[in-house]
Amino acid sequence: MKDIVWHSAKISKENKETLLNQKACVLWFTGLSGSGKSTIAVELEKNFYEKGKYTVMLDGDNIRHSLCSDLGFSVEDRQENLRRIRETAKLFYENGAITIVSFISPFKQDRELARNLIGKDFIEIFIECKIEICEKRDPKGLYKKARAGEIKGFTGIDQEYEKPDKPEITINSDKITVEEAVNKIIGYLYGSSGSN
Ligand code: ADX
Repeated sequence: MKDIVWHSAKISKENKETLLNQKACVLWFTGLSGSGKSTIAVELEKNFYEKGKYTVMLDGDNIRHSLCSDLGFSVEDRQENLRRIRETAKLFYENGAITIVSFISPFKQDRELARNLIGKDFIEIFIECKIEICEKRDPKGLYKKARAGEIKGFTGIDQEYEKPDKPEITINSDKITVEEAVNKIIGYLYGSSGSN
């Protein structure tokens, strides 16, 4: 970056991890609207809290009220949305937080950019759920609006969702409970005892 010089800190990510007694990571949830991403992410965060772990949650619906309130749902806007989110996630990650990211993030390319930016501690969690079931749940009534043509470019209806090829974790949210989903993620991170 021209005319901008990086200013180094004295306290490293490792220092902060030691302070917090945890390893930082980015848990990146991806899946269709209504697949259960936020529901599982909220319970996961509670589980971490009860273990004494420090988390930060970035959730699509909430962030679109603030940092990304200027963006819509075109391909370009989603790319910009996810560019901001991966950079924000990196800031929290580098400061020792277990960073939970819950966005549809429909395109492989954006998720790969996030993976490359974060590195080895990027954990992709695919919340897999058939669109028929998401549509039946329709918690926000958005599928109904999309079918009626009131919303254009809705993921899974008239815009694509590219499934991850090799996510670290796949949760079939139509087959297991929220509690089981949380246990699966905790088991992946800490082993089946779930302690640490
Ligand atoms: S992303 O594609 O850019 O990752 P993000 O997760 O931030 O999407 O926002 C998705 C949320 O916005 C959905 O859960 C839904 O509530 C709402 N939404 C509104 N319009 C759309 C649309 N066209 N496609 C998908 N979700 C939409």
